[in-house]
Amino acid sequence: MNILLLGGGGREHALAWKLSQSRLTDSLYIMPGNPGTQHHGETLEGNPLDFDRVKDVVLSHNITMVVVGPEEPLVRGIHDFFLGDPQLAGVQVVGPQAAGARLEGSKAFAKEFMVRHGIPTAVYKVFAEGEVEAAEKFLSLLTPPYVLKADGLAAGKGVLIHTDYAEACRDVREVLQGDRFGEAGKKLVIEEFLSGIEASVFVLTDGDHYLLLPEAKDYKRIGEGDTGPNTGGMGSLSPVPFFNDALRMKVVKKIIEPTIQGLRHEGIPYSGFIFFGLMVVNGDPYVIEYNVRMGDPEAESVIPRLSNDLAELMSSLGNKTLDRHDVKVDPRCAATVMMVSEGYPGDYTKGHSITLPDDTGDALIFHAGTKAHQGSLVTNGGRVLAVTSMGQTLPDALSQSFQLANKIDFRGCYYRKDLGFDLF
Ligand code: AMP
Ligand code: GLY
Repeated sequence: MNILLLGGGGREHALAWKLSQSRLTDSLYIMPGNPGTQHHGETLEGNPLDFDRVKDVVLSHNITMVVVGPEEPLVRGIHDFFLGDPQLAGVQVVGPQAAGARLEGSKAFAKEFMVRHGIPTAVYKVFAEGEVEAAEKFLSLLTPPYVLKADGLAAGKGVLIHTDYAEACRDVREVLQGDRFGEAGKKLVIEEFLSGIEASVFVLTDGDHYLLLPEAKDYKRIGEGDTGPNTGGMGSLSPVPFFNDALRMKVVKKIIEPTIQGLRHEGIPYSGFIFFGLMVVNGDPYVIEYNVRMGDPEAESVIPRLSNDLAELMSSLGNKTLDRHDVKVDPRCAATVMMVSEGYPGDYTKGHSITLPDDTGDALIFHAGTKAHQGSLVTNGGRVLAVTSMGQTLPDALSQSFQLANKIDFRGCYYRKDLGFDLF
């Protein structure tokens, strides 16, 4: 099988690393890939949002399976594009059609879906352009902090949290009357603040059956002790110590199964990953958000713990035979440390040369924002490298990742040294 993987971040490096190990993979192509993915397959130039370019690549390389890493091509309907084109209709796409991708593409749709299917989530209301007064009135009924969410995709920056009522009202006006989030902010979800501990849970589903993958914990804030602005993710750990069997059972019964059944009941086909962003409040799980892809940096710790042949699991989505497989999990723990550019998640500069040690031991270094420049490796993004180690315990895996991160250098490089602080 020839596989085309779309995307070029740390998540896609982890997926490329895994897919390249499959007995079913003849050739793996990654578009646009990065200097890390090139060790696992052939890099192709192009933008995954340029569907005509994707089509050309699929036809010229005899691709039979396309794995979509990020959400945007899915929300924009890449899977539907394939189904609608007779030359592409036989190609399997891993990732939902636009109807299913709305779980991530529209927060209002996701919330309404959860209410329709009795899935626990924060109390909320949706406001449209111009409904400023109604939104402010609703805010006044909530206990702070206030949580405001732009309806559409906002590259991880669409959630605003305020403790001050006046500041929350100012943001309501900016979003609903102004252009704070462009098209993504034409609708606003305001919801109750849930106080608890977060966890990321993933399934792979063919729409009828699902496999529960290892869970992970993501560290979103830039600063130690979970302080400062939100980032794309500063590291991840898997497994999550508090995610015990009792909690897992609740997540399956109250969240995962109603989601899969809800999609079926509404006639929404689904093939691919569902990522449940959960808040656990006094032992009970609530959905904070759905994503229609793997997490990043969660993939960098979850995928290395998956012992199955990933291409084999994915190829069974096409004929809905995922139930013939069981998840096989490496019992070891995985810890991913994200190394970022100075200034991130604010402004940062790129193009600084990266020094990697000769001996990286058993660790995996996944490239997130790197580029080859005149024969050397340079920084090319806010999140630069994800260092993953496996160990018998989480502290053991973490200490191996920290030791390696300490030997990697680029100008202004930063990483959080307190990952796991809230767990042990
Ligand atoms: P998101 O962009 O949806 O991942 O949200 C970013 C972060 O905002 C989440 O990871 C949570 O930490 C926080 N958040 C979102 N919704 C809520 C909520 N209802 N209560 C508390 N925190 C929230
Ligand atoms: N790590 C969170 C996300 O991928 O959205």
